[in-house]
Amino acid sequence: MTILVTGGAGYIGSHTCVELLNGGYDVVVLDNLSNASEKCLDAVKEITGKSLKFYKADMLDYEATEKVFKENKIDSVIHFAGLKAVGESTQKPLYYYHNNITGTLHILDLMKKYGVKNIIFSSSATVYGTPKTVPITEDFPLSTTNPYGSTKLFIEQILTDVQKANPDMSVVLLRYFNPIGAHKSGLMGEDPKGIPNNLLPYIAQVAVGKLEKVHVFGNDYPTKDGTGVRDYIHVVDLAVGHVKALEKRTDVPGVHIYNLGTGNGYSVLDIINAFSAACGKNLPYQLDPRRPGDIAECYANAQKAKNELGWTAERTLAEMCEDSWRWQSTHPNGFED
Ligand code: NAD
Ligand code: UD1
Repeated sequence: MTILVTGGAGYIGSHTCVELLNGGYDVVVLDNLSNASEKCLDAVKEITGKSLKFYKADMLDYEATEKVFKENKIDSVIHFAGLKAVGESTQKPLYYYHNNITGTLHILDLMKKYGVKNIIFSSSATVYGTPKTVPITEDFPLSTTNPYGSTKLFIEQILTDVQKANPDMSVVLLRYFNPIGAHKSGLMGEDPKGIPNNLLPYIAQVAVGKLEKVHVFGNDYPTKDGTGVRDYIHVVDLAVGHVKALEKRTDVPGVHIYNLGTGNGYSVLDIINAFSAACGKNLPYQLDPRRPGDIAECYANAQKAKNELGWTAERTLAEMCEDSWRWQSTHPNGFED
């Protein structure tokens, strides 16, 4: 079975390629490398001892994308490709709408043209907006607070409409919570460009001495220690979730929606402490005002994925931090090292 992985050179995509190759799938990657390095795919090959086919192509380039469909008999698409920086999306909304939505329209058009009926899409817990309660189940009301989140919600709607018009299609919407960690080998992990916006890569760069201290955004939330609570999930658990979705939902017509989270909420201070333990030093931090747009608490009820996909996140917070530290300490400059 051949899987087209768009955005397969990126953080979550590359970890998913490893699990797919280990699971015996043939993998074709399409990535324009706008936020990734080809060296990541070398790591995938080194870890698995298997090869994959790589097209350096932009999904906005219809002809280049069509070439991938023409030259390969694709059975399913796992669609990771997209821009993901929330702050940047508020500055450049058209860039985000064009890249994420037009790109997806191209993929869907080509799937129709080449008779590909299965797609798994990278959605996000961001589509729950500001949830009234936690844990979050898949039937919670949907809304967004920024253009990035809107692209996720719009694409979910587009995929739902396309499935309705093509009832033999299988559409899987995976709503990720907060992916962190890295592959155990230390050969690949998150490699953000510039100063990281997300908590874990920021902490990792403090630990390795590239940044001075962690800025804790708000300590007056109604949470156990006043800092924001999130559902951090190991990127390998997330990757395995995609393989489970493929196993259980390929050629099962319909729109299938799953939260991929652990169901545990950890605060910013919990994460700083866990990472300090993993790297063996007390990481300096400073309490700052809240970051605009942040919510107090966000964590999943992941029971549906357990019941229907037979999937549960297995890796602990300690493991997430240890794996992230192994990658960061051996690759302080990411794939450049
Ligand atoms: P990433 O940036 O590492 O991976 C995305 C990949 O898509 C990159 O390799 C980039 O080069 C590629 N890409 C972007 N635009 C493209 C285009 N026009 N044509 C071809 N390739 C293109 O991000 P990630 O963290 O691996 O996220 C993967 C997906 O999961 C994204 O859709 C993201 O929005 C979604 N997601 C991520 C998170 C997270 O916290 N990382 C959370 C929820 C959802
Ligand atoms: C963010 C995005 C979300 C996106 C997700 C994955 C925002 C508002 N939300 O989620 O839409 O799906 O990333 O890309 O950007 N924190 C600090 N100091 C930091 C960084 C973060 O204290 O330097 C805190 C935040 O306030 C939050 C927690 O750490 O409580 C996690 O933040 P982050 O890693 O940015 O993820 P989210 O905000 O949950």
